[in-house]
Parts: sequence; C-alpha cells; structure tokens
Amino acid sequence: MTAPTDEQAYFDAVLAADQRIEPRDWMPDAYRANLIRQIAQHAHSEIIGMQPEANWLTRAPSLRRKAILLAKIQDEAGHGLYLYSAAETLGADRGELTEWLISGRQKYSSIFNYPTLNFADVGVIGWLVDGAAICNQVPLCRSSFGPYGRAMIRVCKEESFHQRQGYELLMTMMRGTDAQRHMVQEAVDRWWWPALMMFGPPDGDSPNTERSMRWRIKRHTNDELRQRFVDMSVPQAEALGVTLPDPELSWNDERGSHDFGEPDWAELSQVIAGNGACNAQRIEVRRAAHEGGAWVREAAAAFADKNKEMRP
Ligand SMILES: [Fe+2]
Ligand SMILES: [Fe+2]
Repeated sequence: MTAPTDEQAYFDAVLAADQRIEPRDWMPDAYRANLIRQIAQHAHSEIIGMQPEANWLTRAPSLRRKAILLAKIQDEAGHGLYLYSAAETLGADRGELTEWLISGRQKYSSIFNYPTLNFADVGVIGWLVDGAAICNQVPLCRSSFGPYGRAMIRVCKEESFHQRQGYELLMTMMRGTDAQRHMVQEAVDRWWWPALMMFGPPDGDSPNTERSMRWRIKRHTNDELRQRFVDMSVPQAEALGVTLPDPELSWNDERGSHDFGEPDWAELSQVIAGNGACNAQRIEVRRAAHEGGAWVREAAAAFADKNKEMRP
C-alpha cells in the first residue's frame, strides 16, 4: 500500500471530525461515483414518485383534498430538483442522469412501481411511504457531502408535512363509514410490505452498506432503519384502528423492540428487475414528459446563448 497523499489525509481528517466535504474539495473517485449514483437514484425517486399520487389528482373528493395533494406532489418535484442540483455539484450532467433513468441504467425506489387503486392509497402513501422516507432521510441530513446533507434538511421538513397529511386523511376516513374504514384497511394491507422493502435488502445482502457507512454517507444499516420504522408505525396503526398485515408482529420485551415477519425478498428482486406492476408505465410517462419538454430546454439554451452574445 502506498502512503496516503495530502489530499487523501485531508479527506480522511474531515470525515473523522464529522465535518462536511464540499464540491471544491478533493475526494476519492469512488466516493464521488457512489454519491452521484445515490443522489441520482434519490432524485429519480422523487420525480417518479409524483406519478402514483397524480393518478388521484383529478378525482380527489373535495377541493381541500385536491389542494393538499397538489401541494404535496409539487413538493416532490422540488425535492427532485434540489437533488439533481446536488448531483451537478459533483460533476454529473442532469440531462445524462435523466437519460439513464429512462434507459433503465439507473434505478428509482421500487415502491413507486405499485399501483394506487383507491383514494385511501393517497393517505397510506403519506403515512407509510413518506414515513419510511423520513426514517431513511433524517440520518442523511448529517451526510458527509455538504450539498446532499443541506438538501436533506429542507426535504425532511416537507416530508414531515407529507406524513401528517396522509395520517390526517386516514384518520378522517376511519371516522367515516364502514366502507371507508374497509378502504383504509385494504390499502394498508397492500402497502405495508412494500413500505418495509423501501429500506433495501437485509444487511447480509447489502454489500455497499459498510463502505457507505465508513464514508459517513449512510449512518445506519437497512435493518436498523427498518426496525425503527416498524417500532414507530405500530402505535400509529393502533391509534388509527387498523391492523398491520403481519401475524408475526409482536412486542419483544427483551429487545425493547417489535419482532416482525420477513418481507418477500423475491418480490423486491422482481420489482427492481423491472417486473413490478407499473415499471413500464412509470418509465413511459417519464419518457413522454421528457420528450414533450424538449422545446422548453431548447428555448432556454437559445436564450442563454443570446444573453452571452449581448454581454460586452
Ligand atoms: Fe420527497
Ligand atoms: Fe414526500
């Protein structure tokens, strides 16, 4: 092994002191590549995640519900934009990242390949999907890469609102008719296991975790975060009056945590491989939006060129 360079020593010292690496700082190529992949995948998830909820925008049951849902979906667009900007500070090209999403070279969260079948899904996505996202993202506020950590602080504030709006919608439905309560329970039954899969494969099958933790990009393992999410969700489900669809779910006094069943990892692999219910549809909608927006990008580029010419 060769002795570390001054740059490497500085990078190591910044991490050891729990300080932030900034875009102008030297960083190992693998750290840069790993961050670009993670931030891009995160950005893609925010943007693709707009689709399942937008499915209910024109059919929201009241003006109030429509306004809330619209604001939430617009927040997700904003999250995508912060994150693409953070990836650009690492030298990534946003157009290229979008191409990689559309061509399937880069992934987005598997959760968004499940369909939204009734309006209770909007509430359950807020409660469980945004709730799981919060568990994943709060530790990222302390990520060692400055622009990513700072973007996450703002994103997490908005995610808390998303979680609350979902929970409030479900609470309202649970106080309604039997048919509404049934809709909520049925939606919980469909989303619970996919929400647990959002934390990724079990630690034993997650080869990059160790390195990401060493780089202080990740602070907790997949299984730790999944446990935290289960422990957080159980009392919320009780308050709501719904049953989580896991017969193995029970309090373990010794561990001070809940025991719970094993998600269907074969299903997760299938969805990641592109065989989920909505994978093809999500990418097709994104491709059409990208192609439909070509004239806007061309006009913006022409405007920027013109401004350059006019400058003395
Ligand atoms: Fe978001
Ligand atoms: Fe959200």
